[in-house]
Amino acid sequence: MRFENDTVFITGAGSGIGRATALKVAREGAFVVATDINEDGGRETVDAVEDAGGDAAFHELDVTDADEFKAVVETAADEYGLDAMINNAGVGHPPAYTEDVTETTFEYVLDVNLRGVWNGCQAALPHLKSQGEGAIVNVGSLASFLGLPKQAVYSLTKGAVLNLTRAIASEAGRDGVRANAVCPGFIETPLGDQFFQSKRDPEKAKAETEKQYPLGRLGEPEEVADAIAFLASDEASFVSGHGLVVDGGFSVS
Ligand code: NAI
Repeated sequence: MRFENDTVFITGAGSGIGRATALKVAREGAFVVATDINEDGGRETVDAVEDAGGDAAFHELDVTDADEFKAVVETAADEYGLDAMINNAGVGHPPAYTEDVTETTFEYVLDVNLRGVWNGCQAALPHLKSQGEGAIVNVGSLASFLGLPKQAVYSLTKGAVLNLTRAIASEAGRDGVRANAVCPGFIETPLGDQFFQSKRDPEKAKAETEKQYPLGRLGEPEEVADAIAFLASDEASFVSGHGLVVDGGFSVS
């Protein structure tokens, strides 16, 4: 089992990709520290992991709070260890032209998607470096590579997440720490669905988007979890600074 005796810390583990990742790595032997701002969702994930025969603990955590993040990581690392940090928590925003984006939306999306990942890296790095090995996987997006229309704030945060990942890969490699990003296309999660719900005809918008994907469908959270698990595992021992696109071929079609 790839994660035997490993502890994997996941943010935004109460839903979607974070939950699928918790289940994936737990099935492969990891102890999961499942964190989320949403306590109910996080506890449901822990229940699902335990039902699947795995082991996990929930810690409530708002990733935008640097002090809280450091405290939760420290407590978890002392109690269970820390081998991989998955900075997955993220939010979207309603489609809007750049000039129409409100200050509130700008600050909120930057706070969660960028500061949240930054806080996670800052909190995890001292532990991973001091033990001389470890992996960080940040969840970017296709928007890490593309400038999506009416998604300027989301695109700017996800582009920054990828470049932050590269910077960490180049500075922490000598301490045995790898950093990578997973960059998904449209995935069937509450966040993905939010986008379609913002359209006049959500069903039609979804069907049109599916048609744009070479595989004729959107992705499943489990398909992103597989990529995250690969990058967090020793199978990716010489992969660092990479942005792994998981988009069913959308970006090359
Ligand atoms: P989701 O909405 O299903 O799950 C996100 C989780 O993050 C939720 O449990 C939520 O409570 C948590 N969260 C939100 N704000 C938080 C905060 N301040 N502190 C801690 N937790 C917080 O979304 P999904 O789709 O699973 O998204 C996971 C990641 O994947 C995000 O970073 C998202 O940007 C990224 N992504 C998703 C895509 C999609 O189509 N679903 C496509 C590309 C990237």
